Amino acid sequence: MNKRVAILISGSGSNMISLVEAMKNPAFGAEPVLVLANNPDAGGIAKADAMGIPTAIVDHRPFKGDRPAFEDELHRVISAHSPDVICLAGFMRVLTAGFIDRWEGKMLNIHPSLLPKYKGLHTHQRAIDAGDEAGGVSVHVVTAALDDGPILGQASVPILPNDTAEDLAARVLVQEHRLYPEVLKEFLNS
Ligand code: GAR
Repeated sequence: MNKRVAILISGSGSNMISLVEAMKNPAFGAEPVLVLANNPDAGGIAKADAMGIPTAIVDHRPFKGDRPAFEDELHRVISAHSPDVICLAGFMRVLTAGFIDRWEGKMLNIHPSLLPKYKGLHTHQRAIDAGDEAGGVSVHVVTAALDDGPILGQASVPILPNDTAEDLAARVLVQEHRLYPEVLKEFLNS
């Protein structure tokens, strides 16, 4: 039976699309059961709608900083779709241990750096500023510590002279779209 995958986004959802496309192959053994955004303007929601995937928005703003209440609602909406796995794909809200514990070992995240380097934001600019020869992307299991947890896969790309953060982000994104489906498939089969 197919594994059920929920995908959480905040923005354009290009990683969500690469996951959904990969799951179209019956050999993948999984199906997207929900695309959820915390941001009503997330462009990925219309794209998921167009692909016929159930969507939901849990806007964090009305919760006015009450993270446990926001995460209770998030949990309620996600649980209604009974996913086996949650993929964070550009989901830009920090989740607390209270939420993460409920999905322990079942939640993956894609982070645009070669972890453990550059947790948090502005990863590409920080790699350039540090004079690194390579940037990249990591997929990891989500644990209570931010951008931590066992790394399941990484891909690196060279940082070229005069690269801007945008140049590097674009080069890394190509690898993200390849890596995330590959790692998810392996994770589901392990
Ligand atoms: C991706 O580059 C992803 O790695 C990053 O946000 C972007 C989302 O793009 N995630 C993080 O920074 C998480 N901390 P997308 O909406 O087109 O997939």
